[in-house]
This record gives sequence, C-alpha cells and structure tokens, in this order.
Amino acid sequence: MTKRSIFIIFFFLPLLVRSDRTLNTFTIFQISGPESFAFELTGHGPYSGLSDGRIIKYQGPEIGFVDFAYTSPNRTKEKYDGTNDPELGPICGRPLGLGFNYRTEELYIVDVYLGLFKVGPKGGLAKQLATAAEGVPFKWLDGLDVDSRTGMVYFTDISTKYTMRDLKTVIRIRDSTGRFMSYNPKTNEVKVLLRGLQGPGGAGVGRESSFVLVPECIGNRLSTYWLKGPKTNKTELIMSIPGPTNIKRTLSDDFWIASTINLQEPAPLAIPRGVKVDEFGNVLQVLNLAGIYNNSAIIEVQEFGDSYYIGSAFLSFAASSKIC
Ligand SMILES: *[C@@H]1O[C@H](CO)[C@@H](O)[C@H](O)[C@H]1NC(C)=O
Ligand SMILES: *[C@@H]1O[C@H](CO)[C@@H](O)[C@H](O)[C@H]1NC(C)=O
Ligand SMILES: *[C@@H]1O[C@H](CO)[C@@H](O)[C@H](O)[C@H]1NC(C)=O
Repeated sequence: MTKRSIFIIFFFLPLLVRSDRTLNTFTIFQISGPESFAFELTGHGPYSGLSDGRIIKYQGPEIGFVDFAYTSPNRTKEKYDGTNDPELGPICGRPLGLGFNYRTEELYIVDVYLGLFKVGPKGGLAKQLATAAEGVPFKWLDGLDVDSRTGMVYFTDISTKYTMRDLKTVIRIRDSTGRFMSYNPKTNEVKVLLRGLQGPGGAGVGRESSFVLVPECIGNRLSTYWLKGPKTNKTELIMSIPGPTNIKRTLSDDFWIASTINLQEPAPLAIPRGVKVDEFGNVLQVLNLAGIYNNSAIIEVQEFGDSYYIGSAFLSFAASSKIC
C-alpha cells in the first residue's frame, strides 16, 4: 500500500439530527476490514488488523502501511495476503481488537478465531496467551483494552455459541451468551467477569483504573463494571444507546463510542455515529458519519492527536478526519 492509495475526499451532506456535527473532510486508508486502532505512546501509528490476518502499522503518508505482526503460525504472505474470505479466518487469523501496554511496549491483540495474543515492539509472530476462559473456549473474540497502570487486559467474546461468520444469526436471535473477561499478565489467568451479555463489544478502562465501560451492541446499552471502591465487582447500567460497539477512552478521560442507529421504518436505514460521553454517560458530542459511511454500520471511533479514526471490520477502508 503506497501513498497513492490515500486520498482526500470532501462530502457536504445535510445534518440528520440538529445537534449532530457532520464531518466533511476525510482521509481514506484503503485497507480491508480495519476494526480497531492502536497508537504508540509516542504517537506512531495507527496499527490495525486486517481481514487477511495481518496487523499493519502506518508509517506516514510517504510509506503508507507496512506489515507488523500476525497471529497464525501457518500464515504465509504468498497464500493469504489480500484475502477477504471469512472461511480462511481460522487459518490465516482475523485480528480485531488491539491495545498497547505502554509500560512494556507490548501490543495485545484479540483474534476472532485464534485467541488472545501479545507481540513486542519488533512485531512478527505474536505469542498466544489464551484460547479459553474458565474451561469454555473463546468463540468470537472481539474488543480489547489494556490498563497500562496495572497490566490487566480486558476483552470480550461476543458469543459462546456463534462466531463472526454467524453475524446474521447472532443479531436475529439476539444472542445473549457474550462474556467480559480479564487477563492477568502476572499469573496468565483469564477470569470471566460478566456472562450472559448481548453482543459485548470492546470495553474501555476508565479513570485511575477504577472501572471499565462495557458496551452491548444487541442489548443497546452501556454498563459500568467497577474495579475499585464500594461497588467493586458490581455492574451498573449507565445509559441506553443504540448499537454500541467499541469504546475508546480519550486523553481527557472521556470516551468515544461507535453507535449505529438501526431504523426499520419507514425503510431499513443505519445511521453510523460516534458518541462522546463522560464517565457518567452524559453525552458530550455526537459525530454523524453518514457523510462517508452512508448507511453502513461502523465499529470504532477513536480520537488520537489531532484526528478521529473510524473503522469497521466489514468495510474495505478506514477513515480519519481532523478534529476542528
Ligand atoms: C497449523 O497447522 C498445523 C498442522 O496442519 C495444525 O495442527 C494447527 O492447528 C494449525 N494452526 C492454526 C492456528 O491454524
Ligand atoms: C472481586 O472479585 C475477585 C475475584 O474475581 C475477588 O478476589 C475479590 O475479593 C472481589 N472483591 C470484592 C470487594 O468483592
Ligand atoms: C457511500 O456512497 C458513495 C456514493 O454513492 C460511494 O462512493 C461510497 O462507496 C459509499 N460508501 C460506503 C461505505 O458504502
């Protein structure tokens, strides 16, 4: 991928909701299935996972993206680079959620089919850390966040029955077998913190490691799981919100939530949005992303440096837009 694959386009679309802000200038990165982004503390990146199993790193507009890591020991570049076939995911790997431990400089990765991994700053074949929690194998690992203060990794399994290839079924039957889990790098132990979730996406660790926000895409809600204080180990519903997928904390301890509204009447219509909330679930800002995503769902909105980054595992590009 070279700089020729990156171009700027302009969109001017009417506002759908009066209080919305519509982004109208985007940089497009032509990469396949970028669900989530991670950045080095120094600002280098983004890193993202592709539908062909690679984890790539952005090296700036001159170089574009370069290969960084992969999860499957059986993956060969010749055979799998560029593949978009979901049936090959279990062989070439399908990385979704990513997050750095800034203290150890390790990148943690969840792969839908192959488990929880980490890889050092040199990249290459990532190390598999876990494939099951409390005896039940992972089925559809999805989102991840790392608490760099404690080293704890928080991640989710969308379902214990269905995998990513069964997306339509999971939505139709409103699957409620998802799990929210932690991985402790000191003991290598995976713990199930919450069970019976409805489509849990990527959770986000909050201020001073005191809580994690857990989104349920099918459940249309956001909950706080307390790690400290009088409510430790308890969950509290903090807001109802349509289709929340990944949550990403900002430097000011607020959160961006990718939230796609699915309307059925008068006709099926998805409205992709980024919603910024504080830790209490108060809405601070809404970004309307229909200007570029039309009526496609999005999975992640992240704010880093002077830009927003927007991704979806089901689309063939990522977008970024300057914060103005
Ligand atoms: C890699 O290939 C070996 C030998 O065919 C197989 O046993 C193993 O399960 C494969 N691993 C993955 C992650 O596909
Ligand atoms: C929270 O749960 C952990 C086990 O996951 C347990 O070790 C700890 O004592 C619990 N803390 C409280 C305050 O309930
Ligand atoms: C949105 O619509 C435009 C114009 O029809 C099209 O070029 C673009 O590919 C669409 N984007 C998505 C994500 O569907």
